[in-house]
Amino acid sequence: MTRTGYVMAGIVTLAAFLNTAPLSAGDNVDQKARELLGRMTQQEKIGQLYLLNNGADDADVRAGCFGAFLNVTDPSVSDHMQRVAVEKSRLGIPLLFGRDVIHGLRTIYPIPLGQACTWDEALVREAAAASASEAAAAGYNWTFSPMVDISRDPRWGRIAESFGEDPLLASRMAVAVVKGYQTPQPGLPVGIAACVKHFAAYGAAEGGRDYNTTLVPPRELRDVYLRPYEAAAKAGAYSFMSAFNDLDGVPCTGNRWLLTDVLRQDWGFEGFVVSDWRSTSEMLVHGFAADEREAAKRSIDAGLDMEMVGRSYVEQLPGLIESGEVDAATLDERVLAVLRTKLRMGLFEHPYREQGREGAILSAEHLNLALKTALESAVLLKNDSRLLPLAAGTTVAVIGPLADAPHEQIGTWAFDSHDADSRTPLAALRGKLGKDKVIYAPGLKYSRDESREGFAAAVKAASNADVALIFAGEEAMLSGEAHCRADLRLPGAQEALIKAVAATGKPVVLVIMSGRPIVITGVKGNAQAVLAAFHQGTMTGPALAELIFGDVSPSGRLPVTWPADVGQIPLYYNHKNTGRPSISKDFVPISQLPRRLRQSSLGNTSAYLDVQPGPAYPFGYGLTYGRFEYSDLALNAATMPVDGELLVSATLTNTGKRAATEVVQLYVRDLVGSVTRPVRELKDFTRVTLAPGQSQRVSFTLKAADLNFTDIDMHRIVEPGAFKLWVAPNSQEGLETSFEVTP
Ligand code: NOJ
Repeated sequence: MTRTGYVMAGIVTLAAFLNTAPLSAGDNVDQKARELLGRMTQQEKIGQLYLLNNGADDADVRAGCFGAFLNVTDPSVSDHMQRVAVEKSRLGIPLLFGRDVIHGLRTIYPIPLGQACTWDEALVREAAAASASEAAAAGYNWTFSPMVDISRDPRWGRIAESFGEDPLLASRMAVAVVKGYQTPQPGLPVGIAACVKHFAAYGAAEGGRDYNTTLVPPRELRDVYLRPYEAAAKAGAYSFMSAFNDLDGVPCTGNRWLLTDVLRQDWGFEGFVVSDWRSTSEMLVHGFAADEREAAKRSIDAGLDMEMVGRSYVEQLPGLIESGEVDAATLDERVLAVLRTKLRMGLFEHPYREQGREGAILSAEHLNLALKTALESAVLLKNDSRLLPLAAGTTVAVIGPLADAPHEQIGTWAFDSHDADSRTPLAALRGKLGKDKVIYAPGLKYSRDESREGFAAAVKAASNADVALIFAGEEAMLSGEAHCRADLRLPGAQEALIKAVAATGKPVVLVIMSGRPIVITGVKGNAQAVLAAFHQGTMTGPALAELIFGDVSPSGRLPVTWPADVGQIPLYYNHKNTGRPSISKDFVPISQLPRRLRQSSLGNTSAYLDVQPGPAYPFGYGLTYGRFEYSDLALNAATMPVDGELLVSATLTNTGKRAATEVVQLYVRDLVGSVTRPVRELKDFTRVTLAPGQSQRVSFTLKAADLNFTDIDMHRIVEPGAFKLWVAPNSQEGLETSFEVTP
């Protein structure tokens, strides 16, 4: 036994090795993959389906025991292993080296939820390309990203890694990231392979508890949850990852309908599917397989090509094939998927890390990009009396546990970041304003800190300053995988700190640095301005300082509904109307209801007695330092045929005193359908920057095809009928008109 405990006996002969020249891709990928397959032993085939954590012995690599590795963090080790695989193994098949590069390798960009706040596909694509170039310099040619799981539940820790709740926005972001990673760039001839995860509907985990059951009705699955995966598959993603969860009773790793019927047959996916970490073996725990043998059979038959870390394939497939329980042709199909991908990536021509590219890591160019992304990702939620931006010369009290927390501002799942690289808000403000204008008193040591020892100093700092800036939120480890929360208020004594500082009477700017929307209902009234900054990464500090002092106007918009209370969840903008929709203006707080209340269902709506019906802030929402007015909404026609299109336009004017960027959003509502339809659906958006007093006509082409949905017979169709349409600053407002789709 070697260290990895898996050796494929008797397959390495020197003669065979000398006779075998490594293949090169070019055209005819399929033919080349089949030629290669024809020369492989069964054990070599199974080796291609094994993704191992950390490294392995030369002997095992030479024997072809593995197709891929994850978390080989020393590039000299991965370089060496690749050399052994390519130059010393019998068939010279290059290895994949994977890593979770979720929002950057060493230069850390905002968490994906923050990147989605930019509504800027070009920028997100650039950030992904820059991450790819750092990852490649560190020896990786594959990353387990993007995560495109739609999430309607901020209790779920992994909402941080998601692009939020909307299928269109998440699809656009998914495509941007896939292209950013995979497109060759100077010095990076093959890009790195994306891995779209977690297929499918992992974000619908019950109660927001990670790894939990998902029960999504088939139509909702097709129309909402599957859309971003579909977009990413069609954008040419090289790989997909099966999810941990069981979807309506069938764990995704053993789900033939998902991995074969939908992904390959319906969408034409040509890459390979890898399991999540031991998710094959977890099917035993799910109660879907009696033992590893059954787990391996169910997975390979379902369409799972490669196993991450788990050993059910390497240990069980030989016996399963010998007994005929698994068809040898099925094994060949799975191996071909991996080989074709390696060929298509160009890995046979360019197996090695480009030497001398280390300069890409944390380069000035990447830091600038991280700054730009952080600037665009901040969402201004509240700005009473236009407190922000602050005037030059303002003395600020810098308060809060995240003001100077290099590790926490990075956010979840960034294993290659170094805390010392982080530029914090405190450092940036001191650099920008000079030390005399910044009075620092954090008040709390970390976000969960319950001690009030530091409150007096924080209150004193606020009293001696013109404005209090409170950097509150969550530590990095309070979101991400397996880090879900049932209470979404600011942890620790942060609410008390905010109230104590506000009691000084000084204006308060509350900056929320978190991995998810935070319930701030209890303290919103204590701050004149609120800026949501989902963990923004390396350049958090400079970005926030520039925004607070108005060098740049905030331009982020929420990619997810911001709840007023945790009890409202799930809460999302594209919900159904119901037969008794709730009406915000009718809400009477429970304390004001008459004492002797008669119970009746008449006149009541779908609402809680004790929480407002709507969210704190809706999807798409965000303020700027400009003032945008929408006017003159026009359509080029009142009707369009089911295969036609409409030209939608409106005038946008910045009537404010500062240049700013608006994200103009196009929504529709299908009024009557063969099945009920959402109250609004985002169909397009665009970022528009206007100087004070400037106007611009903004237009969108709405294709009837974009109105498709899954009808009563489970067909994806465009149904004729009446629609409403809005050109809007968010999902609750906007100019409204209507049109009709004709047969
Ligand atoms: C488990 C996570 O669910 C997945 O997203 C990640 O890529 C793998 N672990 C590898 O770290």
